Amino acid sequence: MKRSIKIFGYALLAILLLVLIAVAYIYFDGIPKYKYDPPETVRTLQVPRDSALVERGAKIATLLCNECHRSDDGKLVGKQMLDMPAELAPSYSLNITQDKEHGIGNWTDGEIYYFLRTGIHKDGHWSPPFMPKFPLMADDDLYSIIAWLRSDDPALAPDTREFPPTKWNLLVKFLSHVAFTPPPLPEKAISIPDTTDLIKYGRYVADGLCACYACHSADFTKMDLLVPENSAGFYGGGNPMLNLEGETVNSANITMDKETGIGNWTYEQFYEAVKYSKSPKGGPLYYPMFPHTTLSDVEIKGIWSYLQTVPPLKNKVDRYKPKD
Ligand code: HEC
Ligand code: HEC
Repeated sequence: MKRSIKIFGYALLAILLLVLIAVAYIYFDGIPKYKYDPPETVRTLQVPRDSALVERGAKIATLLCNECHRSDDGKLVGKQMLDMPAELAPSYSLNITQDKEHGIGNWTDGEIYYFLRTGIHKDGHWSPPFMPKFPLMADDDLYSIIAWLRSDDPALAPDTREFPPTKWNLLVKFLSHVAFTPPPLPEKAISIPDTTDLIKYGRYVADGLCACYACHSADFTKMDLLVPENSAGFYGGGNPMLNLEGETVNSANITMDKETGIGNWTYEQFYEAVKYSKSPKGGPLYYPMFPHTTLSDVEIKGIWSYLQTVPPLKNKVDRYKPKD
């Protein structure tokens, strides 16, 4: 009897010790480093500085970059991420202006491409969440972002302001070992689907370009960057997010479930919601939903057509109500 208690005690101690070692390892190891290993085609990538590309890139940036990188005066010098969970704060986005020292003026097109796909910098360090990664974006769309980053857009003119690098805490370090890892580069080129197949086109705009599913599925830690439809609660909403005051705003169920989703909406209501963040109940949709004013009509029509094909999920979301 006594002997078995002793063995049990030793086993417990051993387990405790292992857990401690694992925690210490993660604490000191920090965010894992990865090999910066782009293929030759990426290493030597040179995106043409073409005005059509720049224009498309600027449009994509209003959907995907500016919200997080723009300071109050409009320059893309980074800012404190007030809407990131308090357990992770304070975290900062960085200066992406063309300043060679404080921004990304020294990066090659290939380095930007590799970083936007994977989050891996050329020195091997990795940007964990909450810099998004874009593994499913079409090459032409990615090139357009790069062309825009190199353009004469005044928001990107060299600026020396810079935030200190974020000191990621144990939780982020832990999640970066188990839940978030860099997506691989696509195996072959990704092209923008033709608008003649609206469902396929809309699927690209929703999942590949805008990543609507990321906010609109159940949980950021359970999303599948490579196969979005494998994300938990795909488009069923309820992902708890924060607004800039630190209040929780759950994302909406935008599957076509008639009771708890948007199955009873008209296309016009959907259009107004996506384009201008207007709720059919009157009033606004709340941040972090934001107006997608630069999406074209065919892009919004495509998303709508695609959402008709997403399996409806019954999930009643507790929606945000502002205090008055
Ligand atoms: C949800 C917020 C968010 C969005 C959206 C976002 N970023 Fe970031 N970005 C960040 C954060 C936070 C960091 C800092 C990550 C770190 O500390 O490693 C960052 C880092 C970067 C860096 C690295 C800068 C450096 O000097 O290391 C680049 C380049 C960048 N972002 C470009 C973009 C572009 C281009 C877009 C749009 C396609 C974009 N970001 C969208 C939050 C965001
Ligand atoms: C940054 C996170 C985020 C992204 C990205 C995002 N949404 Fe939302 N969306 C939300 C949140 C949060 C709400 C709920 C806002 C509220 O309750 O007022 C919402 C609400 C909506 C609604 C209203 C639904 C209802 O029942 O009222 C629609 C429609 C919608 N989003 C569509 C989209 C589409 C389409 C995209 C991609 C083009 C998208 N959203 C991208 C966070 C996001």
